[in-house]
Amino acid sequence: MHDLDTAGISSSNSARSSGVRGVRSALERIRYETRALHEQIEGIVPLLQPDADEQTYRSYLEKLLGFHRPLEPVLFARAGLRELGIRRAEREKAPWLARDLLTLGLSAEEVISLPRCRTLPCVQSLSAALGCCYVLEGATLGAQLIHRELSTRLPDTMSRASSYLRCYGTETGKMWKAFCAALEHHGQCAEEQLEMADAARETFTTLRAWLLGVNGTTRV
Ligand code: HEM
Repeated sequence: MHDLDTAGISSSNSARSSGVRGVRSALERIRYETRALHEQIEGIVPLLQPDADEQTYRSYLEKLLGFHRPLEPVLFARAGLRELGIRRAEREKAPWLARDLLTLGLSAEEVISLPRCRTLPCVQSLSAALGCCYVLEGATLGAQLIHRELSTRLPDTMSRASSYLRCYGTETGKMWKAFCAALEHHGQCAEEQLEMADAARETFTTLRAWLLGVNGTTRV
């Protein structure tokens, strides 16, 4: 993650109490406010552990699908995202996760009945939806690194079932830049930036709790 201490942001609390004094952009703000949460979640993703095997990978995809599947329909239905160029057909990850799990041997019935997270981030406004998307889109950057690493350690698994980790492939940088441009375009006021950062934090914390098995599930 980028070090934003040089971006003129002295601390999250002081930035809040003084409006957005010193904050240069929505992206810098959201990065700064979620940096520690990124480090936390990085620490619990099991895929780079030395003993990670195909079962570890499969379980991780199952958990991610349980988060993306209930969230994406609500998230991408948020008015205004499409106008900013953020479209479900291009950005949803659940179909890739489901495809990988089918390739790894789960039946269609097993994929459908996997547990789904029911403590999801609130995406009740366009700013909140963008904050949530920031986390899910940013994960594609880390996924590239994980894919590279696993391609050495689990080459057969990666050649068969890595559509989620490969995600946008050679377009990943372009998709990330396009998303960041949308975030900046909408996040020009302090109020919107705060709402985005709050939603991004909530997305990190709900996902982390879900990965750790702390929050609830539903099969509905
Ligand atoms: C082992 C797991 C992970 C690793 C090794 C990792 C690594 C990385 C790397 C290398 C970047 C690019 C940093 C840069 O270009 O400055 C990145 C960015 C990012 N990652 Fe992760 N990541 C992991 C997991 C996750 C997860 C699970 C999420 C959220 C679901 C996530 C969210 C983000 C976000 C939001 C960014 C964008 C940061 C920015 O604003 O530039 N990462 N990650």
